[in-house]
Amino acid sequence: MSAESYITHECDVLVIGAGGSGMRAAIAAAEAGCSTIVITKSLLGKAHTVMAEGGIAAGLGNLDDADGWEVHFADTMLGGQLVNNWRMVELYAHEVIDRVYELERWGGLFDRTDDGLIMQRPFGAHSYRRLAHVGDRTGLELIRTCQDKLVHTAGAECLMEYTLTRLLKNGDRVVGAMGYNRNDGKFVVIKAGATILASGGWGRMYRYTSNSWEGTGDGAAMAYDAGADLLDMEFVQFHPTGMIWPPGARGILVTEAVRGDGGMLFNSEHRRFMLDYDPVKKDLSSRDVVARSIYKEVQAGRGSPHGGAFLDITHRGADYILRKLPSMYEQFHALASVDITKEPMEVGPTIHYTMGGIRVDPETSATTVPGLYAAGESAGGLHGANRLGGNSLGDILVFGRRAGVAAAEFARTEGQQRDVDERDVEAEQTALLDPLDSSHGWTDRENPYHLHEALQAAMQDDAGIGRSDASLQRALSAILELRGRSKRMRVVGRRVLNPGWHTCRDVTFMLTVSEAIVRSALHRQESRGSQWRFDFLEQDARQGQVNYVTRRDGDSMTVEAVPLSQMPANLVQLLPRSRFYDPAKLPKGYLRPEEMPPATAKEAPG
Ligand code: FUM
Repeated sequence: MSAESYITHECDVLVIGAGGSGMRAAIAAAEAGCSTIVITKSLLGKAHTVMAEGGIAAGLGNLDDADGWEVHFADTMLGGQLVNNWRMVELYAHEVIDRVYELERWGGLFDRTDDGLIMQRPFGAHSYRRLAHVGDRTGLELIRTCQDKLVHTAGAECLMEYTLTRLLKNGDRVVGAMGYNRNDGKFVVIKAGATILASGGWGRMYRYTSNSWEGTGDGAAMAYDAGADLLDMEFVQFHPTGMIWPPGARGILVTEAVRGDGGMLFNSEHRRFMLDYDPVKKDLSSRDVVARSIYKEVQAGRGSPHGGAFLDITHRGADYILRKLPSMYEQFHALASVDITKEPMEVGPTIHYTMGGIRVDPETSATTVPGLYAAGESAGGLHGANRLGGNSLGDILVFGRRAGVAAAEFARTEGQQRDVDERDVEAEQTALLDPLDSSHGWTDRENPYHLHEALQAAMQDDAGIGRSDASLQRALSAILELRGRSKRMRVVGRRVLNPGWHTCRDVTFMLTVSEAIVRSALHRQESRGSQWRFDFLEQDARQGQVNYVTRRDGDSMTVEAVPLSQMPANLVQLLPRSRFYDPAKLPKGYLRPEEMPPATAKEAPG
């Protein structure tokens, strides 16, 4: 049997994903003179990027003179509990400033100070008012601006409503990807000189998430299948404030901007409980701490009626709230019949972001597989064990651009040979069509929606905000059992507009990513950032010196501890610039700034 016919496209640079990182990468690649195709599962302008509402963190210093890239660097490293890739953080803190001004030049409309500067607001664990924002719709403005720029950039085109399911290789090198058109089910092969994964994170394997339907981990799963390394997959961020009531709204984001603009968390006894958990940063502590604090209050019987906490901003007055938080006002009004200018919101932790991801080179965003790049949430390393709010919108601009530039260079110099192996195309077509094949019989069929629900239960209950060896082993058994059952997924109907069929591949991807999360979480036998192990409540000095790398070995998944590279003296000496630096809280065995030799290296990245 030979491969079913398929539509072929060819380009220099293929970008998978049309959120902020994908669009920024595509703009860079096209501006470098490369023909560039951006693929999205959804429609251009509808990416999950809109769910970063509160702003872009950048040390512009518009409101606080003391701010700058150095303090931003220190805050980000400390927030990530020092397992971040320091070079990524250095590049990021430095370059995000230019990226914000670039966005402004491209037409991004930021809120303004009285002097006409870009307005910045406070956010959790940032030393200064740092988030450049547009009310509570910053992600939307970023998307709108990049979209406008993209469609006016020669050489870039966008294909909408396609699901890509497999990276295609020629020898060791990725030479494109294949998948299908979601509307008619027809197969597509895109040959490319270089391929960038900008496909975002993964939250849909959890029951309560702020992620859109697209967050099924396609990029990480495809990269893993192609032999790329995944990094620190155990670090999954619970945003402390998602809606928890009514049930249909559960998980939807309540922006941190509410707390940035003065909102306070209360328990059922009307106690401002963050004073007990972090008396310095209080409600603006880092997300891991606030999420855990809410969890602990609920466990102690002091939760709100639906199992969360109260978030109150009524003291700011209706004028302020309607001006700075219009989306929150509309969201609670429409979905919960709550007027947030008069009543508190009921909130609780929701899966929002994945710090772990595809392992990349900091300078180029190249993965460990030639011809393959990754940027934004699909890549790991920048945020360490916990991301500070506002650092994702900056991440996608800085590393989206870097990936686009490097992929363009690779496509030009090493990406001319783009032949795909027809046997790979045929094998993938067979795998994709299997759930529609009625000749299998129907007695032991599995419904993909039921498998998805079972996976969500396993991940939420046993690999959630708190984990233990026992709970993670339960989750792993469930995943392996579901993996076996997923081979028998069957759906009725045809390939045209068939959501059941799409879900089959979503489930397959989510099983891979979930297994990586759970296996890495089992290996990291300590609590650090978002990884809260009930059986290892403290940080462990030895594990603070490693990242956990997941990779494929035949049909098995392996996890290996890989030592961090030593941060240079000039960067270690920046750590005390964070207002939240506390030498007593540095991980055991960590070289303290005062113990480092004087800095001789250049202060800024090249
Ligand atoms: O709460 C928020 O607005 C989310 C921002 C972010 O995740 O960066």
